[in-house]
Amino acid sequence: MKNIFSEKFYGIRKNNRLCSKKIEKLVSQNSDPVSVFVYKKIDSTNSFAKKLLKSGLKTPAIITADTQTQGRGRLGRSFYSPKKTGIYMSVIVFPDIQIYNAVSITTAAAVAVVRAIKHFAPLDLKIKWVNDIFLNNRKVCGILTETSSSGLDDTNGIIIGVGINLTTTSFPQDIAHSATSLNCDLIERNQLVAQIAKELFGVCKDLSEHTYMDEYRKYSLVLGKEIEYSKDGKKTTAKAIGVEDDGGLVVEHHDKTKSVLTSGEISVSLK
Ligand code: BTN
Repeated sequence: MKNIFSEKFYGIRKNNRLCSKKIEKLVSQNSDPVSVFVYKKIDSTNSFAKKLLKSGLKTPAIITADTQTQGRGRLGRSFYSPKKTGIYMSVIVFPDIQIYNAVSITTAAAVAVVRAIKHFAPLDLKIKWVNDIFLNNRKVCGILTETSSSGLDDTNGIIIGVGINLTTTSFPQDIAHSATSLNCDLIERNQLVAQIAKELFGVCKDLSEHTYMDEYRKYSLVLGKEIEYSKDGKKTTAKAIGVEDDGGLVVEHHDKTKSVLTSGEISVSLK
């Protein structure tokens, strides 16, 4: 049987050391130059990206690190970032502000990351609304999209933070039942970081056209399933029946009324 995780299959060398020059070369092949920052240890690549934007950075950048001491997730959570067993990266993009829409960039980023991982490994990845990526019904990747300030003007960049469990085997107790890793230990981190950045730059050019949305729907973990969400402190169950082009999740309640969720978090029965 063909070993899909073999070096021969990927044609890449196993090399687990992050290298800014390598990433820069891989990303800049078909695009404008990109600044790449690589660290052994950082508080949070998203926090560093914010500092870069606040200090006046006006061009795309990638920040990645072997480990994060204060990795952040959505809804004020932390993101577990153990040394060298994951990808912890932020990409600063400058999409056309006229077409910028917070949910659009969030859904687009999820598709970009799925495309990038699938470029190396034919894994059965799914997207749990809005932008968590799952493998075998467990989370392997989270995405945190932020800006450097609360206001947006036409020079502000957007920060897309991506955290992927690559080979992490033991997780903190609170996520041990729900997290997993890609377990493709021959995926070379520099190549995956570069591919993710390339895919992110690509989808950011397509935000107004929503060309990635069919893929988003195809990879959806929730469409057709019973979900639970909270509104005004009340838990509600409904069936996820569609995803609008702007990323809104269309749900149908038991009384057949419909509503569109635009933020927050849902839980889905994975039976
Ligand atoms: C989530 O699961 O809620 C989102 C997790 C996002 C984690 C990534 S890791 C790189 C970047 N830096 C951070 O502090 N967070 C994001």
